[in-house]
Amino acid sequence: MNKPLRIGVAGLGTVGVGVVKILAERREFLAAASGRSIEIAAVSARDAKKDRGIDLNGVRWETDARALASAPDVDVVVELIGGADGVARELVEMALSNGKHVVTANKALIAQHGVALARVAEQRGVALNYEAAVAGGIPIVKALREGLAANEIASVVGILNGTCNYILTEMEATGRDFAEVLKEAQALGYAEADPTFDVGGIDTAHKLAILASLAFGREVDFDNVQIEGIEKITATDIKFAKEFGYKIKLLGIATRGVDGIAQRVHPALVPDGSPLGAVSGVFNAVAVRGDRVGLLVLEGRGAGEGPTASAVLSDLIDIARGLVMPPFIVPTSHLKAPAKEANGGHDSAYYLRFSAIDRAGSMADITRALAQGSVSIERIVQRGERKEGETGRMPVVFVTHATDEGSMRAALKHLSQIEEVAGKPLVIRIEDGESR
Ligand code: NAP
Ligand code: HSE
Repeated sequence: MNKPLRIGVAGLGTVGVGVVKILAERREFLAAASGRSIEIAAVSARDAKKDRGIDLNGVRWETDARALASAPDVDVVVELIGGADGVARELVEMALSNGKHVVTANKALIAQHGVALARVAEQRGVALNYEAAVAGGIPIVKALREGLAANEIASVVGILNGTCNYILTEMEATGRDFAEVLKEAQALGYAEADPTFDVGGIDTAHKLAILASLAFGREVDFDNVQIEGIEKITATDIKFAKEFGYKIKLLGIATRGVDGIAQRVHPALVPDGSPLGAVSGVFNAVAVRGDRVGLLVLEGRGAGEGPTASAVLSDLIDIARGLVMPPFIVPTSHLKAPAKEANGGHDSAYYLRFSAIDRAGSMADITRALAQGSVSIERIVQRGERKEGETGRMPVVFVTHATDEGSMRAALKHLSQIEEVAGKPLVIRIEDGESR
């Protein structure tokens, strides 16, 4: 057998511990599959005394993770610390510059500095692999880089954040509130160190920008992702959506346009029985439309120790087998410059929810405002009971027919001028959930 592949693991949290466990438990099989054994030479984390439930006997502990980048006994640096900058970025830059392969699960780093890092990797002839950075255990990077490479991709649509999908699913199933379920997702190891990255849509945007680059052959363009999170979604919205035959999902959508790429992250109502509507809990799904393959949907666990470590190991096995590929499918010199699609506006039906004063004539004023914006209504629901002679506030929900963004903006402006409408309406797009 060939000489072992020696790795240095930086970060021993949810993912790092998962990687150490798989390496210990599947040692022989991994060696047979890779043609050489994969051995941990050194590790690093903040707290050397923490009991992590793993055996690190005989493994060197580095107090400063950056030491792994120049350690002579480390062939591959496995970066599992996180963060677009700071130690993680320094470690990866140093390791690549020193001619060491890098495997990382860090989507923030790849979304913001991936192309610059890929240039260094290419110059040094080493791998920069990041399967675990997108959609946890789903091998979507490999699918785009290898299996779908012959296709011209038209769109990539995904549920890309396990924490958000877990929260939305649990809120629907149990009626529990947002904050309580978020705490649970954190305890399960799904959430980012700063969970506002999850619920605010930033984590999904990081992943979407990476997928869009792989799918469309352009440099990663995180700055041009339009981002909206799930913070404003309430149990009431989830209930209304259910009643209408929909689920609420946080989607990442990237489409190829005539002059560039449109990238957006936002909550959406998707039909209950559609491929994306059926994805629940911590599961993610990615739907890719290719000109030769048609629609392809991959679904699997998007976060957590096992699925993410599984993806890290697949990258390590590739390196152990001697596979070094351009990190973004084509060499960085072939990637087109980022370009935002000028006409990224997109027709869809909308769900609108707001609170309105329940008195004679209010509904007529509201529907008139929507008509002034040329928005046509498919369904209206007004809930609550009014006693004789009382005026109160009621949640009102409208489902519109498909309309363009400009018309919807105009309708919302008219709506904001009506005194019966309190506060800003919640507006959620209705998407088809990647139906065949
Ligand atoms: P985590 O549980 O918070 O673990 C982070 C680890 O990094 C900890 O072991 C911590 O040390 C260590 N660390 C922090 N600062 C350090 C420093 N300056 N030097 C050395 N070590 C340092 O995070 P995680 O969930 O495993 O996530 C790791 C990476 O994987 C992130 O990029 C994340 O976005 C990505 N990811 C996570 C998941 C998931 O489901 N969790 C899925 C896909 C991708 P201590 O333990 O001593 O505090
Ligand atoms: N916080 C991320 C999520 C981890 O919930 O999807 C996986 O990337």
